[in-house]
Amino acid sequence: MKFFVDTAIIEDIVELNDYGLLDGVTTNPSLIAKSGRDFKEVIAEICGVVSGPVSAEVASMDFDTMMAEADCLSKIASNVVIKLPLTLDGLKACRTLTDKGIKTNVTLCFAANQALLAAKAGATYISPFVGRLDDLNLDGMDLIREIRTIYDNYDFKTEILAASIRSANHVKEAALAGADVATIPPSVIKSLANHALTDKGLDQFSKDWAATGQSIL
Ligand code: G3P
Repeated sequence: MKFFVDTAIIEDIVELNDYGLLDGVTTNPSLIAKSGRDFKEVIAEICGVVSGPVSAEVASMDFDTMMAEADCLSKIASNVVIKLPLTLDGLKACRTLTDKGIKTNVTLCFAANQALLAAKAGATYISPFVGRLDDLNLDGMDLIREIRTIYDNYDFKTEILAASIRSANHVKEAALAGADVATIPPSVIKSLANHALTDKGLDQFSKDWAATGQSIL
């Protein structure tokens, strides 16, 4: 499963990229607002750090303006992926951009039928929001499983990008459900390395090593 980081904070992206853990980046208008940065400037900066796909979302709702915004965002860097809302106009923009060879990420997916439409529109990625379904006492991971089955039934090439991932358990469940990608907040990516028994074992090894009085270097 590929890891995208879900943030517009450049310092977090640089740190995770240096660990070799990043396959790409996703942003959205809320994350851009949180960064306090100029949208196009921050996307250009991210694309200078990460060579994988970087999702940048259109802000308008109508097809013509979405297409104009997509054109503007696509010119920032060759690894920009155009993020589009799961609406009829967004799907039309998806089909048009796909036919032009531009990569797309259809976002705010909450139902399997929406994911089916995005695949038929030729989306590169579909973003089902797991955490926001869990917030409604539904099982967001059921949606990932349904989409996986539908896409496999018809050999759709659209990649399932599990989004609104909030915990290490979400990451594991998305991997078990067969998501192609998970987009994950920086703190959750780093937390995946944590285990109390790893810490305990390291503590013991350090003490035993010190008792030998040896040095490797
Ligand atoms: O990838 C989508 C994500 O940014 C939304 O996450 O936690 O606001 O539902 P959340």
